[in-house]
Amino acid sequence: MKLRHTIKADQFDIETLETIFETASKMESCERILARREMMEKILKHKSVALLFWEPSSRTWMSFYEAIGRLGGRPIPVINAGVFSSAAKGESLQDTIITTSQYADAIVMRHPEKGSAQIAAETSDNRKLGIPIINAGDGNNEHPTQMILDLYTIWQKKGNELKKGNLTIGFAGDLEHSRVFHSDAIALSQYGVNFVFISTISNNIPDWIISVLRQRGCCWEKTTEIEKFAPEIDVWNFTRLQSERMAKSAAIFPFYRSYLRRKYEKKFGCTGKLKEKMKPDAIILHPWPRLGELPEETDFDPRAVYIKQIKNGLYVRMALLQLLLNPNAFF
Ligand code: NCD
Repeated sequence: MKLRHTIKADQFDIETLETIFETASKMESCERILARREMMEKILKHKSVALLFWEPSSRTWMSFYEAIGRLGGRPIPVINAGVFSSAAKGESLQDTIITTSQYADAIVMRHPEKGSAQIAAETSDNRKLGIPIINAGDGNNEHPTQMILDLYTIWQKKGNELKKGNLTIGFAGDLEHSRVFHSDAIALSQYGVNFVFISTISNNIPDWIISVLRQRGCCWEKTTEIEKFAPEIDVWNFTRLQSERMAKSAAIFPFYRSYLRRKYEKKFGCTGKLKEKMKPDAIILHPWPRLGELPEETDFDPRAVYIKQIKNGLYVRMALLQLLLNPNAFF
């Protein structure tokens, strides 16, 4: 694997993804054998990984933290970095990266600004800091490690169809602001799958993603009617309304926000009526946090894979850290 930084989905060709999936899968099975667990605990021995998070996080944060621990490394946790780090005193992102590189062997960062991870990677390269940067979400742009775990989940459940490009993937909801959807669409387009983008006319998948799909000869449909393509969709990907990333009016006024949310959840949610129309062997993904668009009763639907998807975040991040920081490790 020739990766250095992990900034965007487009860095991951099918071969690299396959290497990560195989490694994650091996780690998942090694977890059940004590002797293998002990071997895995040596992989990041004497290595530290900084977790610099300017934005809230549950799953990405916890799974990275735990992945570092299970590989025997030391996490350097900085939560609420805008308040807790010297960023609060006006320190530039570049200086925060220079500083962190003096203590850590890799930096996992989540930042509210699009392009921030790229700036951090350039700082690492220009200053010859020799530290890999892992983007754990940059604004509404990309979330490449979530993409890897989403595709790993699809690979586990529908690997043969994925390899043949015989899948129709439905993305429902906030297509414009979901960084997860952006990274997932870019990576999946390499497999030649079909896409259905379901949202309002004004909330659509960004043009730069459509250009990539066009270049790769992918087929896609755009619709505002969630049930329209239900009989064809094999993989459903839902998300919450990302109101904090929307125009100020929606982000600030609570009444307006809850009105928008109710409307959204009705139109782009995983409702009972929609589930009746879904294929019996479809799978349902959601990166979480979920709000009303993913009712709890769906947890008991055999097509729901999103809780396993949460767990997969751990294995995939263990695999990525091993491949980046100790590629020749034997376990
Ligand atoms: C997502 C994110 O942060 O973009 N969450 C996650 O990492 N699992 C999705 C979201 O916030 O809605």
